[in-house]
Amino acid sequence: MPLNTAATRVAPWEIEGQLALCRDIAARFAAAGLHPRAFVDTYGCQQNEADSERLRGYLREMGYGFTRSEEEADLILINTCAIRQHAEQRVLGNVGALVHTKRRHPGQIICLCGCSMQQEHMARRIRDSYRHVDLVFGTHALWRFPALLDQVLREKKRVFSTQDSAGSIAEGIPVVRQDGVKAWVSVMYGCNNFCSYCIVPYVRGRERSRLPEDILAEVAQLAEQGYKDITLLGQNVNSYGRDLGLSLDFAGLLEQLCAIPGDFRLRFMTSHPKDAGQRLFETMARCGKIAPHLHLPVQSGSDRVLSAMNRGYTRAAYLEKVAALRALIPDIVLTSDIIVGFPGETGAEFEDTLSLIREVEYDALFTFLYSPRSGTPAARLDDPVPKEEKQARFQRLVDVQNEISARKHAAYVGSVQQALIDGVTGDPAHNLSARTPGGRLIHLSGDPALVGRVCPVRIESASTWALFGSLE
Ligand code: 5AD
Ligand code: SF4
Repeated sequence: MPLNTAATRVAPWEIEGQLALCRDIAARFAAAGLHPRAFVDTYGCQQNEADSERLRGYLREMGYGFTRSEEEADLILINTCAIRQHAEQRVLGNVGALVHTKRRHPGQIICLCGCSMQQEHMARRIRDSYRHVDLVFGTHALWRFPALLDQVLREKKRVFSTQDSAGSIAEGIPVVRQDGVKAWVSVMYGCNNFCSYCIVPYVRGRERSRLPEDILAEVAQLAEQGYKDITLLGQNVNSYGRDLGLSLDFAGLLEQLCAIPGDFRLRFMTSHPKDAGQRLFETMARCGKIAPHLHLPVQSGSDRVLSAMNRGYTRAAYLEKVAALRALIPDIVLTSDIIVGFPGETGAEFEDTLSLIREVEYDALFTFLYSPRSGTPAARLDDPVPKEEKQARFQRLVDVQNEISARKHAAYVGSVQQALIDGVTGDPAHNLSARTPGGRLIHLSGDPALVGRVCPVRIESASTWALFGSLE
């Protein structure tokens, strides 16, 4: 896949142009007496969720209302994920089924966007085999969604926009947020790390940071609107600012964000272990607004595998960072990602991962079976380990972690947590959900009016996955 090197900022007048098109489209719908509805479906990570909030923002400006039903929708927009094959297969399955929905609603417009569509072979597959799809655009074309959709609406033809690019930054796209308590704020886009298994650098372009003043303004606005939990997003937030030529790094940005008045908590993800260090840990320890949680994906506990993954750190260096962090914040909640079955991973190398898990004792893990991604270096490696063996390793890892998670959760019993009540559940036994400062899930009962408030919650019992408590 070709990779460009120069990232660009989208000029404000270009976004203005997109917004003018939105108004135009909305006026056409209004003149025809139409009230179109859109169904937006999002796969994958929080960055995709954040992107979908901007796509919804554009749709709202175009006069669309929203529905959760594919049957009712005049427009279906699926924001796809490419990280593992399973995610791509699911999207293709669902898109295939939309043939029937569209047969019942011939005017329905079906759009696919996001990481999977940024890959040439996937876009080609949609063009050739999923002929009911009207619009396909990759991550780099997101800011031009109104222009692309306008072309579909006016010219009644299929539109594909999947050119590769180093990526751009577009400020000023309207946002429709999905939650009133928790919000996502992208601080940077793209990735320069090229871990050998990962497709992200190929589909999201090079690292590019938003300007600090734009991030500060967005967070200040969210704080003013009453958001209580703000997650800063980037593939590797620790390299924030490197491309800007300013002296500000991610720790410095955090420091400035913490100075914004308001009663909110800041989280961030993801931190790459090679770039997370003492300065970040000290800032986390010093700033009361930063949640005591770090997601620090280790991927493997074997030095040989880490090197083959191109991760840029050793097991010992990783463990040193964890020790330095815990010296400053002893009760930090630590989570991680692990890939099981990287090509050529031996039984002994997998044992190294298990021993690292036991040594660190993470609060929770996100575990993945290695999935070959076309175009990445790891996909070209020999992979002699049978699937069943990988599956068995995966299960052992999950069992070890479950035991650790259950033990860590049990230690909360009897404590009182300053918990953010973050939602209403469908469960009559525990109608509310809440989060500890470190982000662990609490189930409890109470008045739904408490959503958005921080309340003392006494933890009464715990399971592998969650805590159970009651309001003090
Ligand atoms: N196969 C399996 N897991 C992967 N991840 C990224 N690429 C792959 C892949 N090809 C996992 C990593 C990363 C997380 C977001 O997804 O653990 O940290
Ligand atoms: Fe993928 Fe590695 Fe970049 Fe994370 S740091 S997005 S795993 S290449």
